[in-house]
Amino acid sequence: MPVQEISDLDIESRRALAAAAGEFAAEGALGDTVLADAGACLPDVLAARLNSAVRPPDPGVGYRVVRGLFTEFGDQGPTPLHWRETDRERCAPFDIGLAMVASLVGRVFGWADQQDGRIVHNILPSPGCEEMQIGASSTTPLAWHTEDAFHPDRADLLLLACVRNPDAVGSRLSTVASAKLGERDIGRLLEPQVVILPDDSYEDDHAELRERIGMATLWPRRGSLGLRYDPSYTQHLTEDAAFRAAYQELGRALEDGSFIVPLAPGDLLIIDNDAAVHGRVAFQPRYDGTDRWLKRVLVRSPQARPEREQREHGYQQRQVDAYRTQLPLPM
Ligand SMILES: [Fe+2]
Repeated sequence: MPVQEISDLDIESRRALAAAAGEFAAEGALGDTVLADAGACLPDVLAARLNSAVRPPDPGVGYRVVRGLFTEFGDQGPTPLHWRETDRERCAPFDIGLAMVASLVGRVFGWADQQDGRIVHNILPSPGCEEMQIGASSTTPLAWHTEDAFHPDRADLLLLACVRNPDAVGSRLSTVASAKLGERDIGRLLEPQVVILPDDSYEDDHAELRERIGMATLWPRRGSLGLRYDPSYTQHLTEDAAFRAAYQELGRALEDGSFIVPLAPGDLLIIDNDAAVHGRVAFQPRYDGTDRWLKRVLVRSPQARPEREQREHGYQQRQVDAYRTQLPLPM
């Protein structure tokens, strides 16, 4: 494993976070709505302590783990079989805590066509999805990907909070900083020669029909490189053998530099979505309420990206602004 960034937060602060989130929940807030309430703020002392522990990772490292941040939120109930079956009232304190922590590192948002526009996503294995390339899969490895790589306004920070992980199913990471690539391959991957389609967690049956605007796989970024990579949903715009070889070489280099971040209940993983790709090893779901369960929040800080990305249509996927809406309504 490369250099790690691991933070801790003292137990009093963790309890204070759970208590503050519990109060907002008692007033009727949910993780999906709390940021739209301008009055819902964390106490200054707690926010300051959180700010020192929940910092964005260095791009050269690509991730940070905040150990045990959510250990004081109690039991969230059995792992549901589908994200839609999550009990949002019961999970409200945990979800609120995660949303508020995420809000400390950037602007929190969701997608209208993903998980019903919710702000706090539930990542858990679902019957029928075992072999898919989405977070609800299980028995097939989740391949390397940049989160929402298809969209120019994708998150640059991805927060994953662990509710339970009894089999220590690993989250896999690999960073562009540690990928050993030649200058020529880097040069080719800077060219906008691929298109990336939305993954199957989005409701878009027309993605293949939309205008194909070339996307670059790498871009220069503050002394390092940015990375946009999701080979499972990528089409090449060129037959050029040298480009295809460079793309393959990137996959090999990411595989060579891969490592597993173990997550225990209460841990928070922050991924720099421009510096690191992530995936997951295969595992056998039990569907008995004890399966691995993560909660995910998307954040835009924002960091600079290639200007040409602003010409992209993003497949008409619309963001949900966590600060301006009371949506999504409980179902
Ligand atoms: Fe992902």
